[in-house]
Amino acid sequence: MTEQPGPRDTGSTGTTGSTGTTGTTIVLGHVVTPASQTSSQTPGPTHLDIPDGAVAYAGGTIQAVGAADDVRASYPDAAIVDEGDRLIVPGFVDAHVHFPQVDMIASPGLELLDWLENYTFPTEARFADAAHADATADFFTDQLIANGVTTACVYSTVHPESVEALFRRALENNLRIISGKVCMDRNAPEALLDTPDSAVADSVDLLERWHQVGRLEYAITPRFAPTSSDAQLAALGEMATAYPDVLIQTHLAENTGEIAWVGDLFPDAVDYTDVYDRAGLVRRRSVFGHAVHLSERELTRLAAAEASIAHCPTSNFFLGSGMFSLARAQELSGLRIGLGSDVGAGTSLSPLVTLNEAYKVSRMLGTPMDVPALLRLATLGGAEALGVDATVGSLEPGKDADLVVLDAHADANSAVLKRRADNAVNTGELLFALMILGDERAVTRTVVAGDG
Ligand code: GUN
Ligand code: ZN
Repeated sequence: MTEQPGPRDTGSTGTTGSTGTTGTTIVLGHVVTPASQTSSQTPGPTHLDIPDGAVAYAGGTIQAVGAADDVRASYPDAAIVDEGDRLIVPGFVDAHVHFPQVDMIASPGLELLDWLENYTFPTEARFADAAHADATADFFTDQLIANGVTTACVYSTVHPESVEALFRRALENNLRIISGKVCMDRNAPEALLDTPDSAVADSVDLLERWHQVGRLEYAITPRFAPTSSDAQLAALGEMATAYPDVLIQTHLAENTGEIAWVGDLFPDAVDYTDVYDRAGLVRRRSVFGHAVHLSERELTRLAAAEASIAHCPTSNFFLGSGMFSLARAQELSGLRIGLGSDVGAGTSLSPLVTLNEAYKVSRMLGTPMDVPALLRLATLGGAEALGVDATVGSLEPGKDADLVVLDAHADANSAVLKRRADNAVNTGELLFALMILGDERAVTRTVVAGDG
């Protein structure tokens, strides 16, 4: 009888979940990856480009990355997967996404606060039904893999069952999922409210059972300041102190109406960032979604705390929230920045599509990103933002074997992408064409911890 993956029994320290295959596998192709020895703030060579390359892995861990001949010589008995001249890149990292919102993505006509009230909250209320949560978690995790996303920082709903559903499914797929129960005790429909005490009790219970089971991690998840009382933020801050290494995720300074409301709700706070700071929620591995409209003081404070920002360009355009300046934020050392789809305000789970919008934002702001910076944002940058760069985000020995094969000539791709790829004169042009013209149809293989 095979053991079913599941949560830890409270009190035990063991972990469960798939451990990947034991023999060595080599994938041959055109390897392109950021390199983690150089930080995003330091100029210099930041990525590898190996046209006749190979990645060897065993037991879910990368053993070697290099020229195909060298890697093959080192592992003569390895199983070979020949991807020809297709690109092999690290598994993508989605630093901010709401899994329940796949049900209402592309809901028209409203800005953030009205969009939440009219579309988001009614959709999330359905997750009181565990069967619905299960079905949506299945769909969502399948879509992550189809889009080449192997690591994601995910909001569930206020219902603990929604987190259970996501973690259960992610454990079966061996995805690196960081998620938590959304906490909100005011300014939302009654059916979606918790309390300061129940928010902490439910969060701790989930954390104790699921944190670091397989590749899963728990995240303390106040939705955003307007839906939490001071008491709830303080209670979650206390929880954060008790679990100093646990990730915290929330939203920050996304929309000007939201910021004005936060000013009314928290008159004693210096600014929006200070609302979280006073509660002890600004630190390393605090991941703030959006952060579009931050003052110099706030950005500097986030950098000093070594906190992170999830840049969510499709969402910021879709809700008309504004344009986040990555260049401005990157001037401050310490700040870590990843790419977020922010589905369902974001309009695609595809990191390629999201990078298209990230490029356009950077272009609009007069600080255009180059191709290595774009690839980094969706991989190693996101891993750094989530504090998981020791294990994912780049193709390097010792890291998890999460990789994605991109094929500009996959049958389903547009004729325009195929034609542009034919005319690409170098790797940068080919990758850029995939980012600007491609989507999940260009993802022809996703290897998750050595499986796939
Ligand atoms: N702010 C608070 N909740 C949300 C959400 O679900 N989506 C977005 N984009 N912003 C938020
Ligand atoms: Zn969000």
